Amino acid sequence: MNPEELKSIVESIVYPGFPGTLGEYGFLKELLADEKGVKVVLDIPSNASSVHEQLELEIEKRISLAGLNEIEIVIETPPMPVESSSNGKNMLPNIQSFVMVSSGKGGVGKSTTTVNLAIALAKQGKRVGLLDTDIYGPNIPRMMGIEGVQPIFMGNKIKPIDAHGVKVMSMGSLIAPDASLIWKGAMVTQAIEQMLEDIVWGELDILIFDMPPGTGDAQLALAQNIPVSAGVCVTTPQKVALDDTVRALDMFAQLHIPIAGIVENMSGFICPDSGKEYAIFGKGTTPVLAEEYGTKVLAEIPIEPAVREGGDAGIPITVLAPECETSRRYDSAAKLLWDSIVEVLGSGGVDNASIQPTIF
Ligand SMILES: Nc1ncnc2c1ncn2[C@@H]1O[C@H](COP(=O)(O)OP(=O)(O)OP(=O)(O)O)[C@@H](O)[C@H]1O
Ligand SMILES: [Mg+2]
Repeated sequence: MNPEELKSIVESIVYPGFPGTLGEYGFLKELLADEKGVKVVLDIPSNASSVHEQLELEIEKRISLAGLNEIEIVIETPPMPVESSSNGKNMLPNIQSFVMVSSGKGGVGKSTTTVNLAIALAKQGKRVGLLDTDIYGPNIPRMMGIEGVQPIFMGNKIKPIDAHGVKVMSMGSLIAPDASLIWKGAMVTQAIEQMLEDIVWGELDILIFDMPPGTGDAQLALAQNIPVSAGVCVTTPQKVALDDTVRALDMFAQLHIPIAGIVENMSGFICPDSGKEYAIFGKGTTPVLAEEYGTKVLAEIPIEPAVREGGDAGIPITVLAPECETSRRYDSAAKLLWDSIVEVLGSGGVDNASIQPTIF
């Protein structure tokens, strides 16, 4: 078998925890082969031993099938301690911190959480940007009340749209509806990189990303191009014990993204008449999971008609009813999130030396 064939065998291996292959992500650095054996050099963004073991096993299995027995596998990873998810790369040096809001499953309230956290942070005096990276189902324009608003183009650069004190940009504002249905992994990566290049944010304290559900190409592309300072995992009480939430937390760990905490959404119901809270789906699992991952619960957000209505009407609850219990919980989650960011930046966890958080 010639080296090109071996290369395509190795390149077709799926990178653990993500949908793409080693070839698609460009993780195969070198492959040398002669009639007896083969040497494979990978360059991957994770130091996790489980990822290394899975890759080694898979490569050995596939290459042995090709009849070669001398197999040397070298896996190159970021040096420890890892400085940031992107290991030194920062496409957006004018922005102090980056927050990725993710979940293992769709429909748990990521976009709702993202808009309300962004607004709460803006109300607390932070300069906030919100980037909707959900190419397949961008909901942010509707939730922020800017559906149909065209962004301003300055040459080939794009100005974000101001909404509720937050600078917002969404793929939904840039692409024709349904155009994304045919998008493949590599195109998602390219689109993310292009958005990072082309949007003129100005100076920001925080850029918060609403992610598509699951662990995918968008998450990987972001983490490799900017130093993500905080990951927020959104879950619901019914799903918390399931593998999905664990997968989302594992993804943060694998990408070297510090986990700021978990938002338990649709957590219970506050009776509007008595103010009494009912834990419809039970309680207690989220804090246990948070502890397991060395993080905390940022907020328990109840099921509340006004949360959905606010999202549908483009006036999120933190604007619609800033004094209600749910808005207060978003405010307190925003404070905890910022504390976590300050801790990460203060510990030198972000590689850009020019970063001087105004809060210090
Ligand atoms: N706490 C809540 N109370 C009532 N309705 C809610 C709550 N959180 C979210 N919703 C509603 O649930 C629906 C799904 O929420 P959202 O779009 O934020 O989820 P998502 O995780 O971003 O979904 P996707 O994976 O499709 O991006 C929306 O209609 C939203 O208004
Ligand atoms: Mg969403």
